[in-house]
Amino acid sequence: MEKAAFKYVYRGIFDFRLMLTTIAKLADHVGKEATIRGWMFNKRGSGKIYFLQLRDGSGSTQGIVEASSVDPQVMAIAEKLTAESSVKVTGKITQHPKYPDSYEIQVTGLEIVHLCKDEYPISKKDHGPDFLMDNRHLWLRSQRQWAIQRVRNTIINATYEYLNTEGFIKIDAPILTPNACEGTTELFGIDYFDLGKAYLSQSGQLYIEAAIFSVGRCFDFGPVFRAEKSKTRRHLTEFWMMDAEAAFVEHDENIKIQEGLVCHIVKCVLEKNAKELKILERDVEPLKKIVPPFIRKTHAEVVKELREMGSDIKENHDLGGDDETMLTKKYDKPIFVEKYPSEVKAFYMKRDPKDPSRALCADLLAPEGYGEIIGGSQREDDYDVLLNRIKEHKLPLSEFQWYLDLRKYGSVPHSGFGYGLERLVTWICGLDHVRESIPFARTILRLTP
Ligand code: 4AD
Ligand code: MG
Repeated sequence: MEKAAFKYVYRGIFDFRLMLTTIAKLADHVGKEATIRGWMFNKRGSGKIYFLQLRDGSGSTQGIVEASSVDPQVMAIAEKLTAESSVKVTGKITQHPKYPDSYEIQVTGLEIVHLCKDEYPISKKDHGPDFLMDNRHLWLRSQRQWAIQRVRNTIINATYEYLNTEGFIKIDAPILTPNACEGTTELFGIDYFDLGKAYLSQSGQLYIEAAIFSVGRCFDFGPVFRAEKSKTRRHLTEFWMMDAEAAFVEHDENIKIQEGLVCHIVKCVLEKNAKELKILERDVEPLKKIVPPFIRKTHAEVVKELREMGSDIKENHDLGGDDETMLTKKYDKPIFVEKYPSEVKAFYMKRDPKDPSRALCADLLAPEGYGEIIGGSQREDDYDVLLNRIKEHKLPLSEFQWYLDLRKYGSVPHSGFGYGLERLVTWICGLDHVRESIPFARTILRLTP
């Protein structure tokens, strides 16, 4: 009896009496009165009529305040409202006269939650990237940034969805580590009590490799850190990586899993974020072409192709940023570049039995000039071979003994890969620079806000 009464009161307040709703749900209220709570980001009009541009996190809409149909007090509030003030707006919800999926609020009630007295620093005029990044805490509110963060959210959810369906479970890797995963020159070190130096993780891969011997297939997803001094449109010092790892999976199957994941992610964004992609003016035609199979080329083939295109890349070198741009502008599908020279790749990669100078690895490059989004490989599963690699790379053996143990107790062929979330967001949203893809970017020149 008590329970029913509670339910009645709850629904009463939120659904019937106040008709509190969000902009995303305005369609459910057409012809009726409803209230939204949010911010006014722009205002047009004067004296007789005001058009308020409103946003509440779920979307944006227009509120129309007409002197002829509202209380003079409401009109006075509309007049006083400044950009970015927070408000509660009540009114009749109507369909937009021109756009079928858009709704407007014919305002009857207006309440200021907080009035901005200072002029909002970000206006409609063009601001330079440094100014916008300095004001990132405010810039995040703009419509473009809102759209990017929503696409990012879809990519994260699509990743969980796909990997869970494929039998991967989430295993969280540590961020404080005693060793390097991806090369010692790019490590951020910190003093760790009496235990000496600790390093911020560059990738959780080594740890999820340990976990596959328990759960078979797993992935991590979290911030990773690279102290590399790269000042490019692709590099951050802190970014979010998803590493996936699977027991008994070899090179070819590893590639298939990545292909499936990327296709699922793009499909989900196209389905769920049409509005956001429109705000970003992202041409969706190239995204619609992201279906299997992707292009697959060896490093040797790619070097030859790049040289013919004018690159000075050497046979045993990694691809440079410009090489990736040039190559991926040529194709409308992602490209797996496989079998790099082992010397340019990480110590843990298994060598190709057919040509031991090559690693059983692949980088996935996104089309339209975007370049590398995934790095992956089959892992070395033999104890002695791995031990020699660790020595060759001059890595501290004591910190890798646990990793070698994995090759001592029930070693299996296994493979994995890691994507950089910001690289995916940048490509899918069609951004010029990775800095817009993460809420608060960290680069070698930026630590604030
Ligand atoms: O290619 P990387 O270095 O590979 C690894 O870390 C492996 N341990 C992953 C694995 O096999 N589990 O990094 C993986 C991805 C890159 O393909 C790229 O998308 C992204 O991480 N990435 C960066 N993103 C932004 N800024 C940087 N400085 C990045 N470095 C790598
Ligand atoms: Mg890489």
